[in-house]
Amino acid sequence: MIDVIKIDELEFVKLIEAEEIAKRIQVIASQINTAEAENNPLFLVVLNGAFVFAADLLREITIDCDIKFIDAKSYDGVKSTGVVSLNAEKITFVKDRNVIIVEDIVDSGNTVNVLNNLCSQHKANSVKVASFLSKPSEIQYDITVDYVGFEIAKLFVLGYGLDYNEKGRNLPHIYQIRPFI
Ligand code: IMP
Ligand code: MG
Repeated sequence: MIDVIKIDELEFVKLIEAEEIAKRIQVIASQINTAEAENNPLFLVVLNGAFVFAADLLREITIDCDIKFIDAKSYDGVKSTGVVSLNAEKITFVKDRNVIIVEDIVDSGNTVNVLNNLCSQHKANSVKVASFLSKPSEIQYDITVDYVGFEIAKLFVLGYGLDYNEKGRNLPHIYQIRPFI
């Protein structure tokens, strides 16, 4: 089992095991299956980072639903650029729908805030958020993460869909950056 990952000059150490992730996803999925049963939710998966979480979570969803994808990017390396670039021309499908945004991680909350506003502008009936990870100390917007996998500290993480400059998305566990001492 690999415990330390090296990419460029950075080292990452294991934070959350794949087995623990799988168990937690079952819990979130069953919360959603219960709470959203009457809502025919439209899951809006935020690419690229959420692709692994979405694949695991949505295969545990047993209620009526639709799934759509949107591209968003706000990170460069280990830092947020503060600007969310979106590929969102066709988001009119959210009209009258109960949208659940599926994110890999809520950090500053900037991306979710932009998507929330976009869904509201396009007349979604309701907007909720399911995020695999959340960094509560970093959230700078008045947003609620309705379904959350794990709350973590402010360190940069990768694996399970999350990347460092497009690397590490394929790792089955979550790794956190090893701070320089
Ligand atoms: P926010 O807009 O600041 O909330 O950042 C959200 C996006 O930045 C996420 O969807 C991720 O794609 C990326 N991101 C934030 N924190 C991390 C991290 O620790 N590792 C990898 N990507 C991250
Ligand atoms: Mg993302």
